[in-house]
Amino acid sequence: MYFFRITIALLAVLFLGNCESKQPPIEYMPDMYDSPAIEAQEMDYFASNRSGNRIPPEGTVPVGYYPYEFFGNKGNLAPERGLDNTAKKTLQNYKTGEQKFQTYCSPCHGARGAGNGNVVGPAPRFNFNVPSLVSDNVKSWTDGQIYHTITMGRGIMGSYAAQIEPDDRWKLILYLRKLQEYDSNSKKALAGK
Ligand code: HEC
Repeated sequence: MYFFRITIALLAVLFLGNCESKQPPIEYMPDMYDSPAIEAQEMDYFASNRSGNRIPPEGTVPVGYYPYEFFGNKGNLAPERGLDNTAKKTLQNYKTGEQKFQTYCSPCHGARGAGNGNVVGPAPRFNFNVPSLVSDNVKSWTDGQIYHTITMGRGIMGSYAAQIEPDDRWKLILYLRKLQEYDSNSKKALAGK
C-alpha cells in the first residue's frame, strides 16, 4: 500500500515539475492551441478559388471607411472645393500630427519641411528634387489642397492614403502649418523685423 502511495506522490512531483519546464510543452490535443481557422494569406481548399481571403460582397465598404469625394483627380485641387480641416487645434492633435509628419513626410521633405530629408541626395539615394513645404507656394495652399496631395499623391510623389487615416491627415496639416509659421517667424527675425 505504502509503495503505491509513494509511487503516486513521486509521479505527481514529476508531473508538477514539468509545469515549470522551460521546454515547449507537449501538445495534448493540439487543436486546442492551434485553431483550425483559416489565417490571412493561407490556402483554403474548400473555397472555389483556393484563397483564404474572402472577396467582400459587392457594394460594401470597410468599417470606418468613407469614400473620398475627389478621388481620381491627381492634379491640383481647386481651393474653392471646400475641403475644410476637421481637426481641432489641441495639443494632442498637434502631437499626433507631428508624429505622422515625422514618420511619413520628413524622410523626403525634411524634419522642418524644407525639402532636405535624409533619403534625398544624389543616386543611389532619392535622386529627385523634393520641394519645400515651407515655401511661399505651399503656405498659400488651403488645407484641403494639402489634404488632397496626401490622399492622391502628386506628380512623382505617391499617395499616403494607405498609411495615414483621414483624421490624422488633418492633424498632420495642423502641424505642418506650425512648421510654416516657424519658418516665417525665423525669416522675419533674420531680416530684423
Ligand atoms: C518619397 C519621398 C516623399 C515623401 C515620403 C513625401 N513626399 Fe511630398 N513630394 C515629393 C516629391 C518628389 C514631390 C514633387 C512631386 C512633383 O511635383 O512631381 C512632392 C510634393 C509635395 C507637395 C507639393 C509641393 C509643391 O510645392 O508642389 C506637397 C504639399 C507634399 N509633397 C506633401 C507631402 C506630405 C504632407 C507628405 C507626408 C504625408 C509627403 N509629401 C511625403 C516626395 C515625397
